[in-house]
Amino acid sequence: MIATFKALRVHQVDKAFQGRLERIQLSDLSAGEVVIRVAYSCLNYKDALAVTGKSRIMRSMPRVAGIDLSGVVESSSDAQYLPGDKVLVTGCNIGELLDGGLAEFARVPAAAVVPLPRGLSLSEVMALGTAGFTAGIALRRMLENHQAPEQGPIAVTGPTGGVGSVAISLFKKQGFTVAAITGKTTPESEKYLRMLGADEIVDRNSLDLGSKPMETARWGGAVDNLGGDTLAYLTRTVKPWGNIGSVGLAQNFSLNTTVMPFILRGVSLLGIHSVEMPRAWRLQIWQRLATDWKPAQLKDIAGRTISLEQVPQACAELIAGQVLGRTIVRIGGEP
Ligand SMILES: NC(=O)c1ccc[n+]([C@@H]2O[C@H](COP(=O)([O-])OP(=O)(O)OC[C@H]3O[C@@H](n4cnc5c(N)ncnc54)[C@H](OP(=O)(O)O)[C@@H]3O)[C@@H](O)[C@H]2O)c1
Repeated sequence: MIATFKALRVHQVDKAFQGRLERIQLSDLSAGEVVIRVAYSCLNYKDALAVTGKSRIMRSMPRVAGIDLSGVVESSSDAQYLPGDKVLVTGCNIGELLDGGLAEFARVPAAAVVPLPRGLSLSEVMALGTAGFTAGIALRRMLENHQAPEQGPIAVTGPTGGVGSVAISLFKKQGFTVAAITGKTTPESEKYLRMLGADEIVDRNSLDLGSKPMETARWGGAVDNLGGDTLAYLTRTVKPWGNIGSVGLAQNFSLNTTVMPFILRGVSLLGIHSVEMPRAWRLQIWQRLATDWKPAQLKDIAGRTISLEQVPQACAELIAGQVLGRTIVRIGGEP
């Protein structure tokens, strides 16, 4: 019998949103067939927006934050899962429409649950989390659309962030050269990007974005976490038949470009969406991340592990762009 437990919930107070650590009960949580004792969660950009109240991420409040979790099944009314099973959940609307993973217990729909793949521990799977999973989707979509190392370097924007860090590692492992287009220029960030495998580091702030519908083609393809002017620049500078995985909007949600790169260079803009996707794809991507795609630098990518109490401060740092790599949140820890 679970009494009360700790949870980081986001409340709406007048027009503002506030994350608060409090004690709640299972009956406070959104409906689902599977109750999970949470071992780890992690911080994604979206979690940071929700917890700091910078954007409205939850569709109704109060709502437990956290779009990712790993843990052990406590009880399940769905026969696929038994108490003691190790599982993970990423996306599937938790921490948004449904209560999420930044709590000691979570209750989620069975359709959202993925059995922990052999090859990843409960903490490693949160070192990847939605960020790593999303980088995996980008790799898969770009390979399916015939991206090849001979086409030239893959430009990764927001490369010191979660998605960017894993993307560098994944593309390097597939034999691509990688250019990290970053806003950070410290010796520490350079060392970090080289450790991940970046062949070239480009200072985003001194990059000449150009303004013509097409500029000199420089990149074989790109994984973009920023949107806005940076994504527009990538459309103008990717070589013929290259792919751009559009992942994020850390800079801006707008896109001001022309059709010229698409019709004169055959460039493809691929949408990358991690929240809802066919379950078979979800299982396949986790399987690859646990085996041949597993980043060798996973321990260094997830450089820090924090407690639930430290989450609000860590979210503010993430929004301020001060973090290198991923942040794991230890809740119950490995059983
Ligand atoms: N499509 C999907 O399903 C999906 C899934 C996951 C994430 N996302 C989105 O992808 C983006 C990256 O997510 P993440 O979890 O990797 O976030 P993150 O860990 O916070 O990393 C974002 C990186 O972007 C750069 N950055 C941050 N603020 C910026 C700004 N105002 N202008 C320009 N660059 C900025 C920084 O890298 P540098 O300092 O190295 O430049 C930062 O490390 C976010 O927009 C997130 O919402 C989308």
